Amino acid sequence: MRTCRGIASLRRALAACAGKQVGLVPTMGFLHEGHLSLVRACRRECDVTVVSIFVNPAQFGPSEDLRRYPRDERRDSALLRQEQVDVLFVPGENEMYPSPYRTWVDVTGLDSKLCGRSRPGHFRGVATVVLKLLHLMRPQRAYFGQKDAQQALLIRQLVRDLNLPVTLRILPIVRDSDGLALSSRNVLLSARERRAALALPRCLRRASGLVEAGETNARALRAAMAAEIAREPLLTIDYIAIVRLDDLEDAAEIAAGNTLVAAAVRVGRTRLIDNFIPGGMSC
Ligand code: PAF
Repeated sequence: MRTCRGIASLRRALAACAGKQVGLVPTMGFLHEGHLSLVRACRRECDVTVVSIFVNPAQFGPSEDLRRYPRDERRDSALLRQEQVDVLFVPGENEMYPSPYRTWVDVTGLDSKLCGRSRPGHFRGVATVVLKLLHLMRPQRAYFGQKDAQQALLIRQLVRDLNLPVTLRILPIVRDSDGLALSSRNVLLSARERRAALALPRCLRRASGLVEAGETNARALRAAMAAEIAREPLLTIDYIAIVRLDDLEDAAEIAAGNTLVAAAVRVGRTRLIDNFIPGGMSC
């Protein structure tokens, strides 16, 4: 595995891969099985696997947890070596945002809903860094997890709007054995918070069970989900959303393949998200 810390060395590494199918897995590091599932899919489907690790300051608000965000480059690097990744890109902040930095990407409409409501500016930071990474690496395929469903939908829109020549692969959520969706932020939970956090996947399982049993009414599903979360006093609801996949507007009824059922909660200082998409999502 070749580790590149600068754009010039990344370009040299990629020049050596000319004519091959390049796949990109963008990450913020502190890797878990969810990230590794993306890396493995990329290895299966592409000739060259490039992983980026960059804790992107632009997607953290002033009151958010940039400093608390877990990091362990040595462990990440060892895991990626084991997975036989070809190129690891670990840029510094000045490399990605040389001063003065003035160019930003807004995916209007999709960026201000759900997570965007409580994290203003977050998706501008995500869209900007993802476009920069796609532009730098020109991969044929790029891999993202469904856990960040709004992020995936926004990137899908960005790719369509700017005619980017990349195929997006959105892969299923990977969960711990107790059902909690894997997230680098899970290490920030105390043992008590970790137990309480299980109400989040429970509320989604409840909604999914109701959908399977034939319930399509969004209001009824939201109420069932809220009741499940309300039983856990350590959790506060940021949002419970049942929205259309294409514009994230509220859906009155579940439409298979075009509805996102998502929730975000706070447990102590940590914010967790989870979702499911009845009928699945296509890019
Ligand atoms: O999902 C993430 O880890 C980040 O939002 C991403 C896509 C790597 C952009 O910083």
